[in-house]
Amino acid sequence: MSTISIENVSKCWNNAFVIKDLTIHIHDREFLVLLGPSGCGKTTTMRMIAGLEEPTSGRILFGGEDVTDLAPRERDISMVFQNYGLYPHMTVRENIAYPLRIRKVPLGQHDGLIAEAARRVELESLLDRKPKALSGGQRQRVALARAIVRQPKVFLMDEPLSNLDAKLRISMRARIKRLQYELGTTMVYVTHDQIEAMTLATRVVVMNHGVIQQLDIPENIYNEPANLFVADFIGSPAMNLLPGRLENGTFIGDNIRIPGAGTGSHDHVVLGVRWEDIQLAASGTGHMDAEIYTVELIGDATQVTVQNGKQMVVVRTEKDFKAKFGAPVSIAVQPNRAYLFDSKSEARLKHLESRTHSGA
Ligand SMILES: Nc1ncnc2c1ncn2[C@@H]1O[C@H](COP(=O)(O)OP(=O)(O)O)[C@@H](O)[C@H]1O
Ligand SMILES: [Mg+2]
Repeated sequence: MSTISIENVSKCWNNAFVIKDLTIHIHDREFLVLLGPSGCGKTTTMRMIAGLEEPTSGRILFGGEDVTDLAPRERDISMVFQNYGLYPHMTVRENIAYPLRIRKVPLGQHDGLIAEAARRVELESLLDRKPKALSGGQRQRVALARAIVRQPKVFLMDEPLSNLDAKLRISMRARIKRLQYELGTTMVYVTHDQIEAMTLATRVVVMNHGVIQQLDIPENIYNEPANLFVADFIGSPAMNLLPGRLENGTFIGDNIRIPGAGTGSHDHVVLGVRWEDIQLAASGTGHMDAEIYTVELIGDATQVTVQNGKQMVVVRTEKDFKAKFGAPVSIAVQPNRAYLFDSKSEARLKHLESRTHSGA
């Protein structure tokens, strides 16, 4: 069983905590993604799982066995890093063979294992080249082949797609997801890219400042954000966030009133609503009158930004939508799709936690 348990793990550098009391139980065959902004502690967490960094406190278990004090080589893992870490003086074949040599896999098995790994990432024709004669995408595939050749219990991947161009990143993403499914290997994958996290993960850990903000399946991360940080971090374009207050269930913000946005009253709230949960309406008929600020065709939809004073709101409309900049308009928010957060604690308001966001 390739489960991983991270139990109350903290990491200090120079008396400052970069990881604070982290607990995650990773399931066998899970694709767990650590997601968060740069500097939030993703790589540090990964390096502690790998054994490259020692936790200041807490413990790490593989399959129920405490590995906290084991060296990286004593843990059955393989890693892929952003910069691939290929050996420039070795051919592709030798690079892929390296983990087999290090782990003293009998020589007679090498050719078969290398061929199998190369086949899975379509490198068969490139085995005799040196890394410098490869494109970025091909190098990335060598790093993958090297990670899978030994069939470890656990894969650790730290921003493995960050150095690829946008198109290649999307095809490699699909390849990694498929590979993990075929091999059935437990995966811990680090990224700062929310789309990558949402598309790949069975569960996502959203981190900020070394603290878990939410650990959940992608659907819940998107539909039921636990706090303002997660709401703001997930979604593209970002969720619209409007400051205001709640009065007997009516949200009152700058030039906007939305009856039925919540229940009860609360002095300091932030209302969050995604662009797909707002419609444009004729001026004077919606929750907020505004002007068209800009109109951007993005392919299958049009992204319209409307403005009222300092308040900007992004709305999704049909792809053939046309309007003049400055034209008067109104927006209508679906009240049952709005999220309310306490402005101070940034937590989602409790009375909304149990509400379903099941459509219009
Ligand atoms: N070897 C180190 N010594 C001191 N501070 C470090 C070291 N490695 C990382 N840090 C600090 O720990 C924090 C988390 O870094 P890191 O885990 O690399 O974040 P991420 O991978 O999410 O970008 C950062 O503030 C970083 O500066
Ligand atoms: Mg990092």
